[in-house]
Amino acid sequence: MKRPLIVGNWKMFKTIPEAINLINIIKAGIHKIADCDIVVCPPFTALAALSEAIRDTKIELGAQDMHFETEGAFTGAISPLMLKDVGCRYVILGHSERRQHFKETDELINKKMMAALKYNLVGILCIGETLEEREARRAFEVVKQQFDQSLKNLSAEEIERVVIAYEPVWAIGTGRTATPEQTEQMHSYIRRLLNEHYGDSIGERVYILYGGSVKPDNIAQLMGKPNVDGALVGGASIKAESFIQIVTNALPQELQDSPKR
Ligand code: PGA
Repeated sequence: MKRPLIVGNWKMFKTIPEAINLINIIKAGIHKIADCDIVVCPPFTALAALSEAIRDTKIELGAQDMHFETEGAFTGAISPLMLKDVGCRYVILGHSERRQHFKETDELINKKMMAALKYNLVGILCIGETLEEREARRAFEVVKQQFDQSLKNLSAEEIERVVIAYEPVWAIGTGRTATPEQTEQMHSYIRRLLNEHYGDSIGERVYILYGGSVKPDNIAQLMGKPNVDGALVGGASIKAESFIQIVTNALPQELQDSPKR
């Protein structure tokens, strides 16, 4: 089992004071947990303050999106250089909300991924099917297409700096989680794609996270599956107690240090 990676996607929530308040509670709650990697992805406006607030902790910072150019006349956009500048190590790319509300295509996401890697950011690529696609039995086909196109032209060395998040769209923010079996089925499929494209030893090392209504009471079961290496958490990541519990419960029982269970 890999060391679990838990990423909090705060979406468009939290002003700067609210973000600082949340991170301070999270910091206190997880300081004894040594065996889990933790990333928080606040809105752009809170990145600088959080970068400061998590200094000297093991929590890392990520952004929720970025432009693919380094700089230029792109009103409203934020570049990979700027994310590095503010202290980000991660960036979420191709989240289904970006695909749906901002019309992001796999081609655009691929450009962003290449740019992220150029700047030594870890790109968290989100892929996943809609309910309609699952019901039409197209889930695997859709995920393969997103995988192939969003990761086009990436070398084996580059894929090691990518994290894949399988997020079935029908499970995001709906309270409806994919079952551990459905999750493992898709994760092992993604693992197979990785192994085929980049060779087994590299493919096995790439992290595959699950996202979609992850909660303190379902994380352990999901993490129990061999190809689930962590989680991308939305709603439950902006409540300190539930995020702390998710991080705690993501670990095997013997590594859990928190007495509060
Ligand atoms: P959720 O969101 O945990 O609120 O379902 C997950 C995500 O959008 O990454």
